[in-house]
Amino acid sequence: SSADIGVTGLAVMGRNLARNFARNGYTVAIHNRSYARTQELVDQFGNEGSFVATETVAEFVKSLRRPRKAMIMVQAGTATDTVIEALAEHMEPGDMIIDGGNAHFADTRRREAALRKRDLLFVGTGVSGGEEGALLGPAIMPGGATEAYASLGPMLESIAARAADGTPCCSHVGPDGAGHFVKMVHNGIEYSDMQLIGEAYDLLRRGIGLEPRRISEIFAEWNKGELDSYLIEITAEVLAHTDAETGSSFVDVIVDQAAQKGTGRWTVQNALNLGVPVTGIAEATFARALSSGNVQREAARQLAGPNPAEHEVSEDMIDDVRQALFASKIVAYAQGFDQIAAASAEYDWNIDLGACASLWREGCIIRARFLDRITEAWGANPALGSLLAAEEFSSAIAQTQDSWRRVVATAARVGVPTPGFSSALSYYDGLRSERLPAALIQGQRDFFGAHTYRRIDKDGTFHTDWSGDRSELSL
Ligand code: 6PG
Repeated sequence: SSADIGVTGLAVMGRNLARNFARNGYTVAIHNRSYARTQELVDQFGNEGSFVATETVAEFVKSLRRPRKAMIMVQAGTATDTVIEALAEHMEPGDMIIDGGNAHFADTRRREAALRKRDLLFVGTGVSGGEEGALLGPAIMPGGATEAYASLGPMLESIAARAADGTPCCSHVGPDGAGHFVKMVHNGIEYSDMQLIGEAYDLLRRGIGLEPRRISEIFAEWNKGELDSYLIEITAEVLAHTDAETGSSFVDVIVDQAAQKGTGRWTVQNALNLGVPVTGIAEATFARALSSGNVQREAARQLAGPNPAEHEVSEDMIDDVRQALFASKIVAYAQGFDQIAAASAEYDWNIDLGACASLWREGCIIRARFLDRITEAWGANPALGSLLAAEEFSSAIAQTQDSWRRVVATAARVGVPTPGFSSALSYYDGLRSERLPAALIQGQRDFFGAHTYRRIDKDGTFHTDWSGDRSELSL
């Protein structure tokens, strides 16, 4: 038994993580359901470091130095349970299983509790950054016991991306499912960010009438300022790409139906349970569903829209769109952090929001320059209430709000859908409203169902006798 760590499941993410560990000086045991993949890794990349190729699970586990650390990189769901069981059978008390897939945090909590009973440590960890990140430095979001992080943490930190100030983009997020939860919300924010960028593109394309190549240049320009982020950068690249077969712009030959593997949906489902309004993530998830709803899109093809000739949009709107995108993006992140805070309270995770923002600064898909500012904002005041209340963000939005409102109004006028921009603005206006029509809703609820209400001028619970003399009863 000589390996420092093992990786089982050698599809692209697993393979690249194994290589990353080996390149950082660790001896890595590798295993895959079919041995051919294991052999292939050794053949192609064996010279990058020290690998121990194993054929069976028993051999894989035996090859690990105690206490053992075996990382699973297989498909989330039943495949993960099967692999965990196979590993656990051969493990001994104190050994550790690490799940680096996109597991649902509730599964991670269940698995952690079950393995703890067998004296095994279980760490569910988020890993973000795609194929390239896995190899060159992902952002890593480990949950699980503090004891597990003490021995595993340094290894994960050494393969993680580093922020500009040298901090590894990896830290212990919290107990049991906290790591996978934070990864789930990361993906939710990713959905929201991508939707907002999509809407910005659509407004420049259909609203103003610019060509993809020009829009690519605009995004590349935006990427030099406060919008600087990985997703904006790759957007510029995708838009500049020409389809080799047709010579058309690549974006024009792709079927316009967005797929999803489920993490965005999970985020929204959980937010509904916790009662956290992550409207941006919800709209982004539904926008993907709308794009894929063939029957409805087919049926709606003839529906009336505004006459384009009557609604010229000038290039002056380009900068408004940039500002609307920035403001909406701040809202998306603010909502994601609200959800993490709510879950942290619900599940007793004690998650440090500043540390979360810090580890998203590099390596992951939502990495962005402004995460530095989010890290600072939570660091300066963990009891902010909402990221929107941080001085730098409230003043940034104060400056962009006129543009934001113009963009949403123009979009409605010309008939370009902007569920992300519009819902973010409504959320912002909702939060800052002194009085909301929720008062009326309480009145309606009391009228039809005697659901009661509270008064602004005295404590207690009240009901009006709507069907009788309309006198008020104090309950
Ligand atoms: C990451 C990504 C990654 C996920 C894709 C796909 O952080 O590296 O989030 O985990 O595979 O984002 O998600 P969808 O298929 O649902 O778009």
